[in-house]
Amino acid sequence: MKQEIVQIHSLEYLTNEILELTFISDYLSSVAKPGQFINIRVGDNFPLLRRPFSIFNVEGNKISIVFNVIGTGTKVLARKRKGDTLDVLGPCGNSFLLFIDDSFDTAFFVGGGIGVAPFPFLTKHFPSHKKIVTYLGGRHKKLIVTKGLKNIKISTDDGSDGFQGTVLDLIKKDFQENDYGKIRFFICGPTRMMKAVANYANTINADCYASLECDMACGIGLCQGCNIEVIGGERKYKLVCKEGTIFETKTVWL
Ligand SMILES: Cc1cc2nc3c(=O)[nH]c(=O)nc-3n(C[C@H](O)[C@H](O)[C@H](O)COP(=O)(O)OP(=O)(O)OC[C@H]3O[C@@H](n4cnc5c(N)ncnc54)[C@H](O)[C@@H]3O)c2cc1C
Ligand code: FES
Repeated sequence: MKQEIVQIHSLEYLTNEILELTFISDYLSSVAKPGQFINIRVGDNFPLLRRPFSIFNVEGNKISIVFNVIGTGTKVLARKRKGDTLDVLGPCGNSFLLFIDDSFDTAFFVGGGIGVAPFPFLTKHFPSHKKIVTYLGGRHKKLIVTKGLKNIKISTDDGSDGFQGTVLDLIKKDFQENDYGKIRFFICGPTRMMKAVANYANTINADCYASLECDMACGIGLCQGCNIEVIGGERKYKLVCKEGTIFETKTVWL
């Protein structure tokens, strides 16, 4: 992991609400793994705290992230232009690749809203002999990003794209209609969605690995500000930024 100043290569809208920002980094592009994140100081003086973003894609020496404009940090990011510089720290956290083995046939990728972010990079590096089904859920179609994904099934709350309902309703329906063999879930999104999907994974006897989101200050294990309570084990808490962000959902209290 290291801190570096990188140059922005492009910033473009993937949907009406979601932007993809691409920058150049020989270092990050050579070491980053799917599921990891980078911690960005979005402005020179303000906001003070870095903001974490999942690595969306790596192509050659270019790295990209996706975001929707929510608050202070993402407003500043959305105003950047090609050629501007960014202060980035990474790659941080563990990788989904640690949780791929021979004990499942089909990977269910589940992305809620901007939680889609780690999946294109993971899709690229997933073993080609395994089947992937990608479930994307969003409030409406402007929040659905499909770039770089395979075998996509969409749900929206308002029915503006794909199945009308929650992403979990879509997964349940699809599971009943198809034989996917032994399934393993890889999920990322709002905690409420991840909790519901993790509970369902339990009921169908599938493993489930979630990339957790929480407020982070340092992003590198120093401030102790990103604790998650562990189920069983010797320690009561783990650090999401350093020991995660990806955990088996059976091992933590979501
Ligand atoms: C490991 C990790 C990876 C992440 N990856 C991404 C990513 O790939 N793309 C991305 O857009 N964001 C990602 N986030 C969230 C991101 O770091 C920021 O928190 C988010 O973009 C908002 O930042 P902001 O400065 O614009 O909002 P702030 O000014 O910090 O917050 C403004 C308001 O929005 C609320 N808020 C903050 N974050 C969220 C959220 N995620 N959902 C709903 N409300 C929120 C706050 O509570 C506050 O009320 C990730 C977070 C973590 C921990
Ligand atoms: S954010 Fe500081 S220890 Fe995790």
